[in-house]
Amino acid sequence: MTLIDRFHRPLGSLRLSVTDRCNMRCGYCMPNENYAWLPRASILTFEELDRLAGIFAVLGAGKVRLTGGEPLLRHDLARLVRLLAARSAIDDLALTTNGILLGEQLGPLVDAGLRRVTISLDTLVPERLKAFARSDRHGAVLDGIDAALRSPLRSVKLNSVVIRGYNDDEVLDLLAFASERRLELRYIEYMDVGGATGWQANAVVPRAEILERVAARFGPVEALDDRGVAPAERFRLKDGTTFGIIASTTAPFCGSCDRSRVTADGTWFLCLYADHGIDLRAALRAGATDEAVAELVTRHWTNRIDRGAEDRAAMTGRGALYPIEGLRADPRREMHTRGG
Ligand code: GTP
Ligand code: 5AD
Ligand code: SF4
Repeated sequence: MTLIDRFHRPLGSLRLSVTDRCNMRCGYCMPNENYAWLPRASILTFEELDRLAGIFAVLGAGKVRLTGGEPLLRHDLARLVRLLAARSAIDDLALTTNGILLGEQLGPLVDAGLRRVTISLDTLVPERLKAFARSDRHGAVLDGIDAALRSPLRSVKLNSVVIRGYNDDEVLDLLAFASERRLELRYIEYMDVGGATGWQANAVVPRAEILERVAARFGPVEALDDRGVAPAERFRLKDGTTFGIIASTTAPFCGSCDRSRVTADGTWFLCLYADHGIDLRAALRAGATDEAVAELVTRHWTNRIDRGAEDRAAMTGRGALYPIEGLRADPRREMHTRGG
């Protein structure tokens, strides 16, 4: 079954945020001192998350990615992975993590059926992680990457958000690190999403500048035209190293965006930048049948017109998406709540 929105974009992938909590405080996501958390009783159980994922999968979203906050903070995540992996309509099950807890949890996750992992790595310098993300667990992140490399996972990728004045001098070192380990690195442009209260246009290192610098050091960069609906454009160096760039800020992929996201409290967002979501928890907990939930999803997807990143790119005088008060008013506007 394929659901098509008003711009002919299919419902193809679902990002399930399993917790709004995080054990890092990355400057592009959680720069502030205090946060309003989702009420505990509102957090969906694994059975509820699995049921939702099953409904979405039958409607076409066979790609599922678990996100957070930091998804590995959710107790016994492997149990959810096992439930999802047992569904034949889900053919791609992945996890985005900051890596701190990956080394210790990877075994059970892989046994449960996890096949792909993406790990955030913005710096190779432990002191920088401390200053920028308030974490002294850089060693644990590297251990998590090693564990992923030793595991039978089908795909391991690294995500690096590039920010001028923080890690832009590590662009080439990060690629060398990934290449030595045969990992695919994806550079991510700093985005003005909710939560990025310190966002400024001049801190964005655009795709074009990253490509120039990579080419100056590693030689010709070949564009691989295999993007499909993925957010990353992929490239290859002479030595066979591949890497990606996710240029959501300067070259958004809204035109082919097949993704939507559910927060840990069951609010469904049709766009990363959407101000409001649809309350699926209320439907689940009011005893709606699968058919009724599917109908709700169908109605909203077929009316979808969101092109959040493109709308932002067209703005003049672009700044942070929300002031702090706007985020406090609704924690679901935070990137760590709606999933990166
Ligand atoms: P695969 O392509 O399946 O490997 O995964 P992915 O690239 O979708 O997953 P990942 O979690 O690594 O996401 C990469 C980055 O893309 C995120 O950290 C965001 O910066 C960006 N991104 C993810 N979803 C969206 C979205 O809906 N809109 C925009 N504009 N950017 C997104
Ligand atoms: N800009 C770009 N990417 C972001 N992420 C979170 N906040 C931002 C932002 N402001 C992404 C990072 C991280 C993932 C979990 O969320 O890529 O790897
Ligand atoms: Fe960083 Fe991800 Fe945690 Fe946000 S949710 S602070 S991006 S590790």
